[in-house]
Amino acid sequence: MPKSLRTFLEDCQKEIPSEIVRVAKQVDPAHYDVTAIIKHLGAMKKFPILIFEQPLNLHGKVSDLKLVMNCEISQRKAQIALGLPKEMNRTEMAEACLKLEERQIPPVIIDKKSAPVKEVVKVGRDVDLLDLPVMRHHEMDGGPYIVMATVTRDRKTGIHNCSYHRMEIKSRNTTGCSASPRHLWKIYRDCEDNKLECPVATVLGHHPAFNMGACYTGAFEVDEYEVIGGYLGEPLRLTPSEVWGDDLLVPADAEVVIEGALLPGKRIVEGPFGEAPGYLGPQGYIRSPHYEVRAITYRRGAMCQSVITPEGDKPWMDLPREGAYLRRVREAVPGVTAVCKSGRHAHYNIFISMKKMSEGDPGRAAAAALTIDHTKNVFVF
Ligand SMILES: Cc1cc2nc3c(=O)[nH]c(=O)nc-3n(C[C@H](O)[C@H](O)[C@H](O)COP(=O)(O)O)c2cc1C
Repeated sequence: MPKSLRTFLEDCQKEIPSEIVRVAKQVDPAHYDVTAIIKHLGAMKKFPILIFEQPLNLHGKVSDLKLVMNCEISQRKAQIALGLPKEMNRTEMAEACLKLEERQIPPVIIDKKSAPVKEVVKVGRDVDLLDLPVMRHHEMDGGPYIVMATVTRDRKTGIHNCSYHRMEIKSRNTTGCSASPRHLWKIYRDCEDNKLECPVATVLGHHPAFNMGACYTGAFEVDEYEVIGGYLGEPLRLTPSEVWGDDLLVPADAEVVIEGALLPGKRIVEGPFGEAPGYLGPQGYIRSPHYEVRAITYRRGAMCQSVITPEGDKPWMDLPREGAYLRRVREAVPGVTAVCKSGRHAHYNIFISMKKMSEGDPGRAAAAALTIDHTKNVFVF
């Protein structure tokens, strides 16, 4: 069976059954119920997978979709997701991530009729983001936010790019996609310069190996669906999107996919938003393209997945990054033995351990680490 959020939950049910908690009571994610539960558990150093069976949607009604939280938080869950032994320590896991991303596996394309994510298809007037159980994460957030992997496709090279972007829900079919000047921004700006709409899709729920692969950062020309295949250890199954057909392929085994266009010349005011390092990121406009949603598709009994970024240990975000640092820093200094960027408030700090072979090695390693965005302080040992 192809890997999906459902197969991961089955694996966890076998390996760590006490780490899966089903919440039957109604919760209101847009009014901090989910945040409060996760923060409260986090304060007790507990990070179980939480399946909210009756979350309210943004209309205030019980959603057709469940809400799943905390899938990737904790080292053990990341090990289960990646098929790594539980004895593996954090340094070894970063090395493993480097190997997984290097074994890029091309995706396979299946027709829409066979794709689970097309079991329910909403287009046109039926599109309504407010039907989803979306969280308002923190007290000062500008509104309810989706923060999951978003896919675009470069029209020149044909590569698909996956990256996370905070997206504030503005209306039934409108959100703003906050983009720092990385690959999605480059793809969008190329479309905008040519007065074209930029095809886009957002994946709300998939196997954690998908979500970890989507954290990959590397050369623009790399097709990140192939990197995700490496993380999954099998070809990612893709299917044509409703809006763009073969021009934008979407994951066939996702729980929910939102599709649409980033409009040329149109921006949205969004934010502020409680960011991963634990503080409030300011409002955005200039680099927050208007994301017009034109289709929402999902599996029957779909589970909408979300993350609450500053909470808990977050190996799923950090390990792929550590793999990227290892790759880049070792190109400059072969004697690098380990790299670490873990820790909730150490988001911009990177620790490098090396066997020094020349006096210039620490400086070269630090300079290489600083070429990856999100690096502020580098410590070399
Ligand atoms: C949970 C999470 C939220 C993120 N939010 C944003 C965001 O709002 N805007 C942004 O540009 N990058 C955000 N990022 C960082 C990018 O997704 C990340 O830099 C990505 O690897 C860039 O991909 P690329 O190298 O393919 O461009 C976020 C990352 C994570 C894990």
